[in-house]
Amino acid sequence: MTPTVVKSTAELRARCDAARREDRRVGLVPTMGALHAGHLSLLDIAKAESDFQVVTIFVNPTQFGPGEDYDRYPRTLETDLDKLAPYGVDLVFAPSREEMYPKGFGTTVQVAGLTEGLCGSRRPGHFDGVATVVTKLFCIVGPATAVFGRKDYQQLQVIKKLVCDLNLPVDIAEAPIVREPDGVAMSSRNAYLTPPDRDRARALSRGLRAAQDLFDAGERNVGALRQAAVDTVSEMVDALEYVTAANPDTLVPEESHHQVQARLLIAIAARLGATRLIDNTVLGEDPTIVVSTE
Ligand code: PAF
Repeated sequence: MTPTVVKSTAELRARCDAARREDRRVGLVPTMGALHAGHLSLLDIAKAESDFQVVTIFVNPTQFGPGEDYDRYPRTLETDLDKLAPYGVDLVFAPSREEMYPKGFGTTVQVAGLTEGLCGSRRPGHFDGVATVVTKLFCIVGPATAVFGRKDYQQLQVIKKLVCDLNLPVDIAEAPIVREPDGVAMSSRNAYLTPPDRDRARALSRGLRAAQDLFDAGERNVGALRQAAVDTVSEMVDALEYVTAANPDTLVPEESHHQVQARLLIAIAARLGATRLIDNTVLGEDPTIVVSTE
């Protein structure tokens, strides 16, 4: 059944309040639309954790910097609703920009520390925009649980910190990265890629897999593990923004000469043509990435 679409914050809040009055546990899946199997996996988790699911579809302007892809970000509401239909989602919130940011809006939620490195230093203000819109969605919906993907690993950590620091009464559930059969992490931005660039995009997951293979073979030197990823990716992409080896909880980069204790985050951002892609894995925690050559 095509889900009910709500466009006003007042109506969304009223419907979520009504669900709670019926003792239903509200689950939230925030998205920017252009839904793919990765988003649907978030919904599977939300369904298991709640009994009233709200999916939000909003391309949030405040998390895009000048010259980024806000204008061309895919907006595919009708197709998204078709994809959600079989899931029996209770509500889709698809507000206008003005509904979320009315004239005079002047508040920003800023999480310090975790937002400094990785994408934070390349996309100034990005995580302020994410933290602000996610806080707003939490306030409007009042979810008992909200689901975020590990593909945006830094975003996930920022949201967990925000929830902890502000004592927000919401459980954050995290979903593993969903990959295409050739290993490429699912992303709405993959739609931008030309066929040759889509082919080259495999370099990111291959770089992560190279680090995983070395780790599985017993290598624990941070510099060597990171370098395995760099060597695989750098030739294949137009610009390698970063390959960072960091503590998976604090996101603080590890020194090259350090030995990995139990877990190590390897995170990559690279550009192919005009498209910026990110991917990551946590060595010692995430399953082996399948990178078929077909
Ligand atoms: O991950 C996303 O799609 C967005 O950053 C989010 C969490 C929906 C906030 O706009």
